[in-house]
Amino acid sequence: MRRLVAETRLSIDDLVAPLFVREGIDAPVPIESLPGVVQHSQDSLRAEVAGLVELGIPALILFGIPLSKDAEGSEAWNPDGVVQVALRNLRQEFGDAIVLMSDLCVDEYTDHGHCGIVDEDGRVDNDATLELYADAAVAQAEAGSDIVAPSGMMDGQVMAIRDALDEAEFDTTSILAYSAKYASSFYGPFRDAVDVTIADGGDRKGYQQDWRNGREALEEIRFDLSEGADMVMVKPALAYLDIITRARMEVDVPLAGYHVSGEYAMLKAAAQNGWIDGDAAALETLTAIKRAGADFILTYLAAEVAEALGR
Ligand code: PBG
Repeated sequence: MRRLVAETRLSIDDLVAPLFVREGIDAPVPIESLPGVVQHSQDSLRAEVAGLVELGIPALILFGIPLSKDAEGSEAWNPDGVVQVALRNLRQEFGDAIVLMSDLCVDEYTDHGHCGIVDEDGRVDNDATLELYADAAVAQAEAGSDIVAPSGMMDGQVMAIRDALDEAEFDTTSILAYSAKYASSFYGPFRDAVDVTIADGGDRKGYQQDWRNGREALEEIRFDLSEGADMVMVKPALAYLDIITRARMEVDVPLAGYHVSGEYAMLKAAAQNGWIDGDAAALETLTAIKRAGADFILTYLAAEVAEALGR
């Protein structure tokens, strides 16, 4: 009876798996603060994606860890950069069996760890950064990305990327905008995963949102849609379910929630201690994000939850 009348149904079709690929390694490296998640070599990435395809997971999103970082993050648009190589490999191996998304930012590629160009005063230069994002978008599209996902929170980034993609004749490459992205404490394990430390104890409060603000998120979403976003995202998810619900009421485009690294790590840590039932909590958490209004969820739980749902 509960099954019959359930209002919200979590499905394998709702899941997007975030994956890390690192340049210059030949075996996967575990990420201590993200149990079960690894930095992949190109080979181990292929093997993991084969498993995701087998499970019926519709999409993945790639993050890269380059061998060398510089002030501008130039590996982000190098055609032979680690994510571009991975995109080409995956496209060749899996064709259209899984949607390839690519996170579009420079923080994994800059030596200072910021999401853009830092000026002499130590501030991120919004407009100069847009040019880097445009180049990275074209490099990712060229390599086979179906959906680029700008996560740097620069103003005007969606328009800059849309223009660059259209100009390079990638007019069918979609944009999933990390529209409402908060300056959150829940990204901690992710920064271990991509070997990022922000220089001089800095933070991202100059470009990511203040978690006291809700209306601002809706304004960011409206901007991104007017600039050409095809889909929008709220991130993190759990502390922001109200934002997901408000966004759902406001927009008719696909809406994503990102169940981020810190949210995953908390769940795993409690489960490992036997303090909660991890499998049940995983289903409850992701179902709640859907119930709040998300159409799909980026989550490190994707494979294990798909397995549970497929049983
Ligand atoms: C920035 C980016 C971040 C995450 C996704 N894209 C980190 C940040 O803004 O500091 C976090 C994802 C997670 O915590 O799982 N490229």
